[in-house]
Amino acid sequence: MSTSEATAITRANIALAKYWGKSDVPLNLPAVPSISLTLDPMCTQTTVSFLSDLEQDEVSLDDQPASGRPLQRVVKVLDQVRALAGISRRARVRSGNNFPTASGLASSASGFAALVAASSAAAGLPRDDDRLSAMSRQASASAARSIYGGFVELPAGTPGDADLCARRLAPPEHWDVCIVVAVLAEGPKDVGSTEGMTLCEQTSPYYRPWIEASDALTDQVREGVLQRDLSKLGEAMEQSTLAMHACMMASRPGLLYWQPATLAALGAVKALRKQGIEVYSTMDAGPHVKALCHARDAERVASALADTPLVLRTLTARPGPDLELRQ
Ligand code: DP6
Repeated sequence: MSTSEATAITRANIALAKYWGKSDVPLNLPAVPSISLTLDPMCTQTTVSFLSDLEQDEVSLDDQPASGRPLQRVVKVLDQVRALAGISRRARVRSGNNFPTASGLASSASGFAALVAASSAAAGLPRDDDRLSAMSRQASASAARSIYGGFVELPAGTPGDADLCARRLAPPEHWDVCIVVAVLAEGPKDVGSTEGMTLCEQTSPYYRPWIEASDALTDQVREGVLQRDLSKLGEAMEQSTLAMHACMMASRPGLLYWQPATLAALGAVKALRKQGIEVYSTMDAGPHVKALCHARDAERVASALADTPLVLRTLTARPGPDLELRQ
């Protein structure tokens, strides 16, 4: 029996300027640019072994055997890696997150980035982070950003551009900021991102205006990051979040991820700002609120959010490192 094995560790990321919409569905290219912060310590660890005695791919996610759509998405990545490396062996994949699935942080970004990196290394492909990012993007566009640490940009894709990858804007040590996640609900969301984007594109009257607004918002977020100007970044980040959610809400049927706790947490962030703390909120395709602040204010922000009615708990993250690979 011949084996080849590799382990990858990647971090979750949070978009500061949001990706929502596709310019090329088969290649999974984003219609808008996005900028994210890679988060420590929220990580996925994935080990892939290609084994000559396996008849089909075996996948476990957080110690549970995968089946259905999640298994299909993993097998699609493994098939691409096998085609590139010219191998046919099936794989055993073990993947686990150190943050709970219902934590308000997407596990698909770090999950697909770790899967692409570990399977490419196990298949003997030389490490090339741009290629890993482009392959991760094809599996889930936000995953392209989890290959790199710190502040990361994924440009909008021109249809047909199969090689589109994310790039590092600034390393983790560039800026001592924190993300405080206010977890507001348990359980998975009803409508996933991919499905939500399709619905918006097909039915929301605000889809085009959202696409048109996104370049200027991303420019302001980028400047805020590079100049370490939290107010500049924060204003554009809040606008990007609210414009994306307005686009979702206006689709048919309306896509409303908000819960009463969402408004309470957004209000708490605003109240902190009135008290002179530089803190701004963002949300993804779910009810949870994430607050960006200076590291020196993180404890105060976390305790204000934890004391907000209907907030279940908080998690605090810092800028995280690049992908780590072990063989
Ligand atoms: C709201 O990357 O999960 O979190 O490419 O269809 O897999 P697919 O979508 P996904 O969408 C993430 C959307 C978002 C914003 C963001 O992370 O930029």
